[in-house]
Amino acid sequence: MAARHELFATCPRGLEPVLHQELKELRMGRIERQVGGCRFQGGPVEVARANLWLRTANRVLLRVDRFPCPGDAALYEAAREVPWERWLRPEGTLRVQARVQDSALTHGRYVEQRVKDAVCDRFVERTGTRPSVGDEESDLRIHVHLFRDRATLALDTTGTPLYKRGWRVAQGRAPLPETLAAGLVLLSGWDRRSPVLDPFCGSGTLLVEAALLAAGAAPGLGRAFGAERWLTHEPRLWERARREAEQARRPTPKLQLVGSDLHAERVEDTRANLEAAGVTASVHLEAADGRSFAPRPGWNGQVLTNLPWGVRVSDPARVVALYEAFGTRLREQAAGYALSLLGGEPRQLDALGIAGERTELANGNQPCVLLRAALA
Ligand SMILES: C[S@@+](CC[C@H](N)C(=O)[O-])C[C@H]1O[C@@H](n2cnc3c(N)ncnc32)[C@H](O)[C@@H]1O
Repeated sequence: MAARHELFATCPRGLEPVLHQELKELRMGRIERQVGGCRFQGGPVEVARANLWLRTANRVLLRVDRFPCPGDAALYEAAREVPWERWLRPEGTLRVQARVQDSALTHGRYVEQRVKDAVCDRFVERTGTRPSVGDEESDLRIHVHLFRDRATLALDTTGTPLYKRGWRVAQGRAPLPETLAAGLVLLSGWDRRSPVLDPFCGSGTLLVEAALLAAGAAPGLGRAFGAERWLTHEPRLWERARREAEQARRPTPKLQLVGSDLHAERVEDTRANLEAAGVTASVHLEAADGRSFAPRPGWNGQVLTNLPWGVRVSDPARVVALYEAFGTRLREQAAGYALSLLGGEPRQLDALGIAGERTELANGNQPCVLLRAALA
């Protein structure tokens, strides 16, 4: 039987329950929800499937050690004991990233440096040569998590974060990360069949992620992963996982996707991204003002959108006026539609004048709120 590993998938804050559900649907073992992600167990097959299939995860980390870490010496010694040569060639490239909280060692940079020294010293001792320090695309990325003087050393099986799916060819000023967009689609409760409308579509991230979900398409199919650069890499296993994912994708010619944006360039961005992602749905795109939003009566679709936020897109007072006008339009024109609206602040969402369930999320370090409602 293949080795079982302790794995941890990270995700945007607030999406932990969605990620938990995704892992359950992928039939991963011993799933446990934590802050910022979920723990689970699995071997190399699960590592490949998690990377290919998870929509809301940013990274999948594989734990190699966990130990009490009251200070510098404990960190260095433990890091030197790990058999890094199992995964990395002596002449390969290495990157260490640390997150440090409530611990005697307080500086992330210092922790990264010490772990890098320990790894390199181990290689020099055994092979006379050492790996060099690389970038995001390094052959081995090591994550150090130091919390209340307990350290976890983990290998990053993902490499370039999972929100970079490989389909984005165009972006506006404030695109949603793909992982957060997929989380909104999943949180919306959308049935994966009814029309999806995004009247502030920007670069179309929500429409693309909704279409990929409806098609049963693995979001990671168009890219490579960190673990594929390791010495332990089993190409056949990954080929099989990719083949399964390719076979699972279905065309969705009946799916209606409706997108608009005030700016014609954004509409073209959406068109380009939908095409690059291989979306086969029936697509209607136009430049239009959300304040005149007029969804087709009787469609009973899903309005799924990310309204402009004061900080990034325009000035706060104008944003509130925009929310007011859009809310009025929804109440007057969108009977029968389900709404999932992401806004920057509770006050902005209040201006919509629509009651519903609110979920606090985060876009990077920026808090945001999802409002879900159904219009009778
Ligand atoms: C936060 S961005 C949406 C980002 C999008 N979800 C993405 O991932 O690229 C908001 C979008 O609303 C558009 N916008 C601003 N005012 C608008 C209006 N009155 N009507 C329609 N779109 C508007 C902006 O051009 C911008 O593309």
